[in-house]
Amino acid sequence: MPLTPTSELVRAASDRRSAVAAFNVITLEHIEAVVRGAEEAGVPVIVQISENAVKFHAGRPIPLTRAAAALAESAAVEVALHLDHVTDMALLHQAADAGFSSAMFDAGHESYPDNLAHTAAAVAWAHANGLWLEAELGYVGGKPDSPASAHTAGVRTDPAEARQFVADTGVDALAVAVGSSHAMTTRTASLDHDLIAVLAAAVPVPLVLHGSSGVPDADLARAVAAGIRKINIGTALNIAYTHGVREFLDHDATVVDPRKYLARTRTEMAGVVRHLIGAVSG
Ligand code: G3H
Ligand code: ZN
Repeated sequence: MPLTPTSELVRAASDRRSAVAAFNVITLEHIEAVVRGAEEAGVPVIVQISENAVKFHAGRPIPLTRAAAALAESAAVEVALHLDHVTDMALLHQAADAGFSSAMFDAGHESYPDNLAHTAAAVAWAHANGLWLEAELGYVGGKPDSPASAHTAGVRTDPAEARQFVADTGVDALAVAVGSSHAMTTRTASLDHDLIAVLAAAVPVPLVLHGSSGVPDADLARAVAAGIRKINIGTALNIAYTHGVREFLDHDATVVDPRKYLARTRTEMAGVVRHLIGAVSG
């Protein structure tokens, strides 16, 4: 089937009081693994391509977006395509033509007035061009240039500010800082579940959890129960990818055909996708 709009998958998950898992991809094998894992779980999925992943592909989103659309076409489950962590308006402006139905505009590191102004402008452009737009308030740390950690004072999302931010910007979903952090390679993040519940009651749009690779299964389920509706996962796939390749090459120093180790690592990533979808959708 053709790509499904992200808005439909998030709405369907919200109606079930559940969440949709959204996986960040870098290579074709990531996309194949996400689709395969979602098919094995029998649950729709969001494929996310970040601005950094686009940069890795020489600034061109189209090779990956077309691959995602082609894989969605023959998938047994619905697949949506989301442009993640965009800071560059020029890239956001390519999103609809490139095949994305949604984007996350990333200005959480800015001051409140700057985040508000820049996000409102991004929302206006996105809505005029048929895109669903997610933005961040508070600051989910962990990216290479992060000025703060998940536990730095003042980085958590404030419920009253969040309500005002959503009303003033018109965003379709809100990424919140509730204790997770990007790029964790251990699942030891400690979420503030009470804050998630207060934010879910304060804000009339779906809440998004970033940095979910560092969150244990049980906490993912609790976060969904408290009101998270979209769960972003990236590093967990890269751990599976890299460990799979490393282990294969460590055991066979003669191999030169990448299909040998990529087939294995793709299967391992699909297993991670299936497992995490199970943790998120219960
Ligand atoms: O937007 C993407 C996610 O926040 C991924 O975070 O790589 O820590 O799972 P993660
Ligand atoms: Zn993120």
